[in-house]
Amino acid sequence: MPQKSRLKDTFPCHPYEKNPGILVCWHDAMGDLAKDEAHHHDDDDADQFETHQLNAWRNLFYHKQFQSIIQSAVPKGSPLLEIGAGSGVDAKVLVQDHPLTITDVSPATLDRLSQWLRGPDIFFIAADGQFLPFEDHQFGAVYMAATFHHFEDPQKATAECYRVLRKDGIIAIAVEPNATYFRPLKRFQNVLYRLTHTDPEHISHADAEMEGFRKSDFEHIFDSDQWTDRRIRPMWFVAGWIHYFLEFLFRAFRLKKRIILPLWLEKGIVAFDEVFFRIPGMKYFCWHWIVSAKKR
Ligand SMILES: C[S@@+](CC[C@H](N)C(=O)[O-])C[C@H]1O[C@@H](n2cnc3c(N)ncnc32)[C@H](O)[C@@H]1O
Repeated sequence: MPQKSRLKDTFPCHPYEKNPGILVCWHDAMGDLAKDEAHHHDDDDADQFETHQLNAWRNLFYHKQFQSIIQSAVPKGSPLLEIGAGSGVDAKVLVQDHPLTITDVSPATLDRLSQWLRGPDIFFIAADGQFLPFEDHQFGAVYMAATFHHFEDPQKATAECYRVLRKDGIIAIAVEPNATYFRPLKRFQNVLYRLTHTDPEHISHADAEMEGFRKSDFEHIFDSDQWTDRRIRPMWFVAGWIHYFLEFLFRAFRLKKRIILPLWLEKGIVAFDEVFFRIPGMKYFCWHWIVSAKKR
């Protein structure tokens, strides 16, 4: 494990190896929300590709866009850190050109991932994104998808990413819920749970609590003192309505399988959304944000 050298000697934790190759490095001060997330995702062994339709074009297109933010800015061979790796959808592409340190707060998630995601330069470590057990200035990029809204303190997580990034390193954050939809939706949460036969006990607290982010939240978090080249891109307009409507049908009517749209339709919807977002002001109606910035 060549990347083990990047671990911080003074990190206050009681590290142990869950299974060969999975080092658990939870900070002694890790909060309740992160612990809850770890337990929730430890127990969730559902196929994440199926649950979130990660192989549908509406996801493939935007994950590709997300990966290319890193690929275009970071030289091949430069080490990357992933936070909240979960399904491994981005790691499986980026590992082809970079040494990868793959983290998630849930050790069992990393264990499942390590069954199929292999390579000579992959290092799995269970850690909270708000307390990274690495030395300063280690990585050419830090990235996370659908993870930032799970943090109790997103500013702290951002500061940790800043600390472990090299100068000119890239932070890339994808699939972050837009408050335009998720804040009002939270008011109808209980109704939605009832209609979709969802037991609130089976929802992660972080997902249940979150209200999403406004564009201005990211502008504030990535202020110009520490970061430069900030970009906040929109993801999904019609694609989001369709994605969540299909998920609603699947759960409300207890369908046996999720509905798969034909590729030509998926491509048409994504192409429409990309044109729609060029109209001034329309990016505020996206369902998710993709954010990137460079460390000064
Ligand atoms: C919705 S999943 C996203 C997984 C993957 N990035 C993807 O796009 O499919 C969120 C992941 O974040 C992890 N997570 C939640 N809280 C975390 C924290 N405080 N630190 C690190 N990872 C966390 C969860 O265990 C889960 O695997």
